[in-house]
Amino acid sequence: METPNSPVRSKGLQQIMVCAMSLLPLNPDELLSTTRAVRKRLDFSRPVPDDLLRECVAAAMQSPSGSNNMTMQFVIVRDEAKRKAIGEVYRQCYSIYKTMDGIYVGSIDKGEPVAQAQQVRVADSADFLGEHMGDAPALLLACTAGARVDGAPAMMAASMLGNVLPATWSFMLAARARGLGTAWTTVHLMMEQQVADIVGIPFESVQQVCLSPIAYTLGTDFKPAGRPAPDTIIHWDQW
Ligand SMILES: Cc1cc2nc3c(=O)[nH]c(=O)nc-3n(C[C@H](O)[C@H](O)[C@H](O)COP(=O)(O)O)c2cc1C
Repeated sequence: METPNSPVRSKGLQQIMVCAMSLLPLNPDELLSTTRAVRKRLDFSRPVPDDLLRECVAAAMQSPSGSNNMTMQFVIVRDEAKRKAIGEVYRQCYSIYKTMDGIYVGSIDKGEPVAQAQQVRVADSADFLGEHMGDAPALLLACTAGARVDGAPAMMAASMLGNVLPATWSFMLAARARGLGTAWTTVHLMMEQQVADIVGIPFESVQQVCLSPIAYTLGTDFKPAGRPAPDTIIHWDQW
């Protein structure tokens, strides 16, 4: 069997080359600045081909990994009963998250009117996904295998998470380039073991980090979001 650390890795890259004809016409900066958390514009009625998902994983596998040891694993759930079961866990976790004042996206006061309007839109969109996660034709569970992060020393925890977080974002960028929408979510981690049990993830040695719906988007015209200016977060030479 080909393992993540096997030297036989050219197939995924070839697939990316083959599919380049069908990518959206986005330059790198457009891709980076328009890959949004898509929730209300997910097309729940259109199936997503497995090969497209393989291409996204092939792109994800080009991300960096600590010690060149690829521990990232992706569980892609297409089975309807399992999607619905995960969606129900997500709904329960989301309803708990909504009670968390100062943490729930809708309870954060941004003050400035334009930023506050964006916050209200995000909350509305997130509330929608809270009810519809299981309706997406595929769900992505991004994991890092080998050990759990809980209580690990900083270097180990950063390395374990660092093996899967860039890969997951690469998956999302590759998905966007192919007309697919994703939305990074973490609230299900409140009940991570329940989700692990639904799809047979060995909870003691595999850490989930992200759950995302995957679906074609309704339209492909996504825009850059308002963000703090670089100089408000850069610390030149000194914090
Ligand atoms: C670490 C992390 C956790 C997140 N968790 C959730 C979540 O549980 N549910 C959700 O709807 N969105 C979640 N999001 C998505 C954010 O709400 C979203 O990225 C943010 O509002 C900015 O929107 P944009 O990605 O479209 O620019 C999460 C994003 C990150 C990076």
